Amino acid sequence: MTRTDPTDVPRPDARLHFGVFFQGVNHWTIWSDPSSGSQIDPASFLRVARTAERGLFDAFFLGDGQRLRESEGGIHELDVAGRPDSITQLSALAAGTDRIGLVSTSNTTYNEPADLARRLSGLDLLSGGRAGWNMVTTHNAWTGENFRRGGFLDHADRYTRAEEFLSVARAVWNGWSEEAVAASADARSWSVPGAVGRVRSRGAHFDVDLAPTLPRSAQGHPVIFQAGDSGEGRDFGARNADVIFSAHGLDFDDALGFAEDLRRRLRAAGRPEGALRILPGTEIIIGATEKEAEEKARWVRLEQVTPAVALGIAGRLWNIDLSGRDADGPLPAEDPVIAEYTGKFGSSRFRDTLATVAEWRAKAEANGWSLREAVIELGPQRGHVGTPAGLAEKFARFVRYGAVDGFNVSPYLVPEGLDDIVDLLVPELQERGVYRTAYTGTTLREHLGLAPVE
Ligand SMILES: Cc1cc2nc3c(=O)[nH]c(=O)nc-3n(C[C@H](O)[C@H](O)[C@H](O)COP(=O)(O)O)c2cc1C
Repeated sequence: MTRTDPTDVPRPDARLHFGVFFQGVNHWTIWSDPSSGSQIDPASFLRVARTAERGLFDAFFLGDGQRLRESEGGIHELDVAGRPDSITQLSALAAGTDRIGLVSTSNTTYNEPADLARRLSGLDLLSGGRAGWNMVTTHNAWTGENFRRGGFLDHADRYTRAEEFLSVARAVWNGWSEEAVAASADARSWSVPGAVGRVRSRGAHFDVDLAPTLPRSAQGHPVIFQAGDSGEGRDFGARNADVIFSAHGLDFDDALGFAEDLRRRLRAAGRPEGALRILPGTEIIIGATEKEAEEKARWVRLEQVTPAVALGIAGRLWNIDLSGRDADGPLPAEDPVIAEYTGKFGSSRFRDTLATVAEWRAKAEANGWSLREAVIELGPQRGHVGTPAGLAEKFARFVRYGAVDGFNVSPYLVPEGLDDIVDLLVPELQERGVYRTAYTGTTLREHLGLAPVE
């Protein structure tokens, strides 16, 4: 299925939205390059955010991790770069930026709604209505050990908790009426008497009774993002989210299939089509010619997939500890260890392990690949590669056919990873009419073109 008929473009006026996904912890960021700066120095993330703002991006986006990644019972050393709390980090950015949205990924499994809703609305107020909350349920058990809860919740219960969590958070945000703050200094008290409501909620997961502490922000309350890919996750997002952060943005047909599935779920939830934006994560690698772009992409992959990273990725696929093996040698001779999928190790393409391993073996044999080369070619793929004009054409098609509403771009170099995108790609997108030429609003909700909150 490839849709290219120019007379049948479903969304001829669609605009692409860009976010930047700043990765504080990940081997995808090439920290060993001489131009790389620190990933926790405020100067680094401020530079990225300001570049994104210069490029008229909708949002600066942070992932969630209340604990360093672990494997085989130890810290995943490859990923240790430090991990500041996202709301703290975004508050620093609020002071150093003017327009860009600030999105915190914060999980609903290991937080409490009254506390998180308050902190997020604090960020929303301090930033003038630029906050977003990416709701995740968190797939790993080790985070639970921070909270003396171990694995804490089965997958099946995480979305029931998330649903209840969001309903309490919304009640907290809506607790103050629009007119709650007295308009003049002569008023009897700072807040209008009776305008601060009470939140009482008793459910399976939460039993709260509180008076919210903050007035509404310029956009009402933070924009709700959501990331989760199971059927329950998609239904939850369709019922509740303003924006879906997905992993379906590389292949056009895959992206369109995901978007159509979500829009079906959105309609089933009784919400209008325009209520949801879909922003998959991606890397973007730009060269002056196709050849140069491909060469750069090869360099990026070699830097990212070091021998140790290759052994880690293959080890998760085989479900065997491969550390100490030769990544430049052949694929493991052993059969993979099949365990029931727990969601602990991410990618859905690994779920059918036997078929995946058979495919890797066949392709490695046919092409003479080492284990590391197989991971580079067949492991999780990351991005779009091309010239500014070629990528602009490609992205225009993605957005006009409704496969995406934009992308959440992961820079592979920090802090200058967005420079090419802002200086070379954005002007090509603007020329094609698929990208804004100025911010028209001040809030994240306005950047995304979402209806005001009720
Ligand atoms: C694109 C994407 C980004 C995610 N980012 C995070 C994250 O930053 N932190 C986290 O703990 N979980 C993250 N998750 C995991 C989800 O919270 C969820 O636990 C996981 O996807 C399992 O739910 P599911 O079966 O519905 O996909 C992410 C998931 C997706 C699909």
